[in-house]
Amino acid sequence: MTLFKGARETFADGLVYVPGYLDAGEQDALRAAVEAAIVSAPLFQPRMPRTGKPFSVKMTNCGPLGWVSDQAGGYRYQAEHPETGRPWPAIPALALRAWEELGAYPHPPEACLVNLYGPEARMGLHQDRDEEDFTAPVVSLSLGASCIFRWGPARGGKTQSLELASGDALVLAGAARLAYHGVARILPGTSALLGGERINLTLRRVTKPP
Ligand code: SIN
Ligand code: FE2
Repeated sequence: MTLFKGARETFADGLVYVPGYLDAGEQDALRAAVEAAIVSAPLFQPRMPRTGKPFSVKMTNCGPLGWVSDQAGGYRYQAEHPETGRPWPAIPALALRAWEELGAYPHPPEACLVNLYGPEARMGLHQDRDEEDFTAPVVSLSLGASCIFRWGPARGGKTQSLELASGDALVLAGAARLAYHGVARILPGTSALLGGERINLTLRRVTKPP
C-alpha cells in the first residue's frame, strides 16, 4: 500500500494522524539532524517532581525553550540545557516544516522536545499542559521503532490505541490538545533506523504570542 503525504485521519476527538508523513530519505535526514543536536545538547535523565523517580525515557530539546523536569524544580520550560547550561540547538528544518504543514497555527514553535525510548521505555498517560497557549497544537514526529500510543479524554477513562511507526506524524489540536496520552510500549523488530530504539519529537508553542 502506498501512503500519501496528504493522507490523514482525524479521530473523533480532534487527534490528527498522518501516517508516512516523512519518507525514508526524510527520516534519515531528521535522524541525522537529531543526532547532531544530541552532540550539542546531550541526552539527560529527567526525574519526576517531588519523588525524583527517573523517567524511563532520556530527553533533550531543540529551540529557544526546552522542557525539563527534576525533583526540585518540577516540570518547566527553560532556555538552557540543565547540565551544560548552554542554549538548546535550533529546531531541525524538517520538524519546522511539519509544524507549518500540519499545525495550522500562525506562530512558530518554541520548543522541540526529543524523547529517546529504549526497548523497555514507556510514558505514562499525561496531558501536555505546561504551555500558556492551548490554542496552539502539539505536533509529534516518530522515528525508529514503532510504539503503541494511547490516548483518552480523561485520566482513568477509556483509552484508544494507535501504532505509531517511523515517519508518522500526529497532531494534538482542538479538543484533543489536552487529551491524556502516553506510550504503552515499544514494538521490537519494527525498524532498523535506530537499532530498536525510538525517538519522538514534539513541537510546542510555549508562550502566548505577542
Ligand atoms: C510525549 O507525550 O511527550 C511523547 C509522545 C510520544 O512519544 O509519542
Ligand atoms: Fe505528551
